[in-house]
Amino acid sequence: MKILIINGPNLNLLGVREPSVYGNQTFEEYFKTLQAKYPNAGLEYYQSNVEGELINKLHEVGFSYDGVLINAGAYTHTSVAIADAISAIKSPVIEVHISNVHAREEFRHKSYISSVCKGVVLGFGMMSYEMALFYLLNSSSK
Ligand code: DQA
Repeated sequence: MKILIINGPNLNLLGVREPSVYGNQTFEEYFKTLQAKYPNAGLEYYQSNVEGELINKLHEVGFSYDGVLINAGAYTHTSVAIADAISAIKSPVIEVHISNVHAREEFRHKSYISSVCKGVVLGFGMMSYEMALFYLLNSSSK
């Protein structure tokens, strides 16, 4: 299997950034625990703060990988272009958020990508990624 986790802007600062909202763990640390727990998932990780780079990565993997978990960060709430990229590709894409965006500012309640994703997992801290991964590992579409 091949599954890519994509993190968008500012998520390179997990562990440092607003720990009361996003926790104390870096994504690299968390990713190592996921890889160790699911050695057959073929997990890879990509992070960029640049919208076009996120789109290029979706195009690159989206016709061959078994699935993509994407936390598009603030682009979730603004990017028609990322939504179009998700619509354009074949691999199932799951939207992930660490925080419960619906319990936060109103501008975070709108997602441009939810409607083009297979599903959405949010609000469970880093565990949101693992819950989304659970779907990809157990769905019959693979
Ligand atoms: C986030 C929520 C977004 O609103 C925010 O801009 C982020 C992180 C989350 O994982 O909770 O950067 O996607």
